[in-house]
Order: sequence, then structure tokens, then C-alpha cells
Amino acid sequence: MKLTFIGNGNMAKALIQGLVSEYEIEVLGRNKATLEQLKSDIPNITISVLNINEDISNKNIILCVKPYSLPSLSLNGKANSLYSVLAGTTIETLKKSIDSKYYVRTMPNLAASNMKSMTTITGDESLKQNAIDIFNSIGTTLWLKSEKEIDIATGLAGSGPAFLALIAEGLEDGAVNAGLTRNDARTLSAGLFDGFASLLKNDKASNIKDGVMSPGGTTAAGYSILEKHNVRYAMIEAIEVAYQKAILLGKK
Ligand SMILES: NC(=O)c1ccc[n+]([C@@H]2O[C@H](COP(=O)([O-])OP(=O)(O)OC[C@H]3O[C@@H](n4cnc5c(N)ncnc54)[C@H](OP(=O)(O)O)[C@@H]3O)[C@@H](O)[C@H]2O)c1
Repeated sequence: MKLTFIGNGNMAKALIQGLVSEYEIEVLGRNKATLEQLKSDIPNITISVLNINEDISNKNIILCVKPYSLPSLSLNGKANSLYSVLAGTTIETLKKSIDSKYYVRTMPNLAASNMKSMTTITGDESLKQNAIDIFNSIGTTLWLKSEKEIDIATGLAGSGPAFLALIAEGLEDGAVNAGLTRNDARTLSAGLFDGFASLLKNDKASNIKDGVMSPGGTTAAGYSILEKHNVRYAMIEAIEVAYQKAILLGKK
């Protein structure tokens, strides 16, 4: 299958790297120099500067521009499928700018750059398997039933790297405060998150906590402080406000 990318920034590059061995890739952008740089990094693609009123008839489009760039696109014809990575941009909004038989909305995360994105997807069921195949190339995927769910997932998996970065930085600061060097604290937190990811794939968070928390031990002592300072509730509220923000941005 041939895939046509519109936009050639970070997210497009991550996806193209994952897809180029399986799909024919065409990339349409507005900047000749950055397109040529992409072609020199990934030779097995075709590149073109997007024309005004570019004909997208029957193409399978992966839309990789920023949400605010959507109104600046001027495309003609009816695409076969449109896969959008635009954060917060609803299918209803996409329909107003780009004509396509089928639409899918996706939410990758920053780990796409390491091919470890946790990507959520929703939209036309007829594109479900194709969308899963495409976005599995940059990590793992979860198909959701509605745009409401993808807005909630945006708070967890999309914003999640920033939330976890706060936890990682806080733990490192704590170790430095107690006397560890910054470099050692960073090495420890990177190793901690790596090992924790493999634990979480196979078990519930609550079981991991119970497994490490022995009666009257160090973990129980530290854990009670986290609860005292409402870390759990702060995370619940962070997901809620991120969800509300996604709804608000979707209406703009
Ligand atoms: N990066 C992430 O971790 C992440 C995560 C989830 C979702 N997303 C979504 O992914 C999308 C792309 O993000 P990004 O990080 O890849 O942004 P980016 O690096 O800024 O790339 C955007 C690309 O779109 C091109 N573009 C803008 N307007 C255009 C137009 N009118 N015609 C053709 N090309 C145009 C830009 O061209 P120039 O070279 O001229 O700038 C650039 O190549 C966003 O909608 C974002 O919400 C990103």
C-alpha cells in the first residue's frame, strides 16, 4: 500500500522510519530544504513540495502537521483514507478541511522517537486494522471506541511522559538532597523506569506496590509520605484537567 504523508516534521519522520520497509512512502511538505534532508536520511521515499490545491484523490493520507496548520492546507479531491496525528483535533474538524472516504484519529506520544510510542486510535472501523498496522510501527497501539476516550487517553499516554518526568525528577532531587550525586541519581532513575516498565507490562500497579512494601519497611515509610501529600489525588486531578483541556482545544 502507498501512504502519503502531509508534513515532514518529528512525528512524520518517526513514522516513516518505522514504515519504510513495508510501505511505499510519498512525503508532501512545504519546505524543500527539510524535505531534501528527510530524503537524505531515509532515501527510499519520494518527496514533493505541496502544491496549492494538491490533488489527494484516492490517496491514503497520514496527516502530520500541527493542529494550527490545518486551516492553511488547501487540498483537492477525495482521499481514500485519512489518518490524523493532530492532538485534540476532532474528526468533525478534519472533515471540514479535508475530504476523505474514511477518517481515523490517533494520539501517539513522545516515545515515538524511540519507536516506543503508546498510541491510541479511534475512528472508522473499516480502517481499524490498517491503522493498527501503521502505528504499531512506532510502538504499541490501543483502538478506542470513541473520541471521548481518546481525549481521556491523551491525558494519560499523550501527556504522561511529562507527568512521569516530574516524578522522575522529584525522585532524583530527593536522592541528591540525601547526598547522592546528580549523575548517579539520573542513572538510577533511568534504570528504575526501564525495569518498572517491564514489571507493569505483566502486573497491576497495586500488585507491584504490595510486592515491594514490607511491613514497617523503607517503602512503607516513603509511601505514607506520598499519600499524606496527596500525590495520588494530584494525578487523578491532572488527568481530569488534561481531559477537559483536550475537549476545549477540540472545540476551537
Ligand atoms: N511530537 C510528538 O511527540 C507528538 C505526539 C502526539 C501528537 N503529535 C502531533 O503530531 C503533529 C506533528 O507534530 P510534530 O512534532 O511532527 O511537528 P513538527 O515537527 O513541527 O512538524 C510539522 C510539519 O508540518 C509541516 N507543515 C506545516 N504546515 C504545513 C502546510 N501548510 N503544508 C505542508 N506542510 C506543513 C511543517 O513544515 P516546516 O518544515 O515548514 O515547518 C513540518 O514539517 C502535531 O499535530 C502534533 O499534535 C506529536
